[in-house]
Amino acid sequence: MRRIAVCPGSFDPVTLGHLDIITRASKLFDKVIVLISRNAGKGKPSFTATERMLMIEAVTYNLDNVVIDILDGLLADYVRDVGAIAIVKGLRAVSDFEYEFQMALANKKLYADAETVFLTTASENMYLSSSVVKQIAYFGGDISHFVPEVILDDIKQRLIRNN
Ligand code: PNS
Repeated sequence: MRRIAVCPGSFDPVTLGHLDIITRASKLFDKVIVLISRNAGKGKPSFTATERMLMIEAVTYNLDNVVIDILDGLLADYVRDVGAIAIVKGLRAVSDFEYEFQMALANKKLYADAETVFLTTASENMYLSSSVVKQIAYFGGDISHFVPEVILDDIKQRLIRNN
């Protein structure tokens, strides 16, 4: 049996923290689907789903068992449809826990055959989030420590164009 995991998120944009979780998940499962939520109910994303997809493609090109898809409906339905056994999420700090715990319980109710698996984030990524990256980039700060180098210019260009 191929063990498929789904790694969902907004990835607006993908950060080194996301990439670390995706890379580690790719070692634990036969196939990892990085699933971009088109609109996660957090207001209008800064990047289109296609832009986010292209950036993730660029940073995961070396991971053979990782594919990317876009989510329009419920995560639990998607997980069922692709036959995944796990939803992989990164946990940074206690502050992430309540929200993630609620999501994990809701997803378990909606589809009982998949487990939510939490990977603790690498210590250097504890403080990292897409919104922090966007704020720093917006004010002209250096985001090279936070996002994969190969998409650095892309992010700057797109942020200027999309704002
Ligand atoms: O880590 P993020 O960016 O907050 O990811 C949010 C995501 C994509 C996991 C969440 O918004 C999601 O699951 N959206 C799909 C809609 C859904 O299934 N909602 C119910 C989950 S309890």
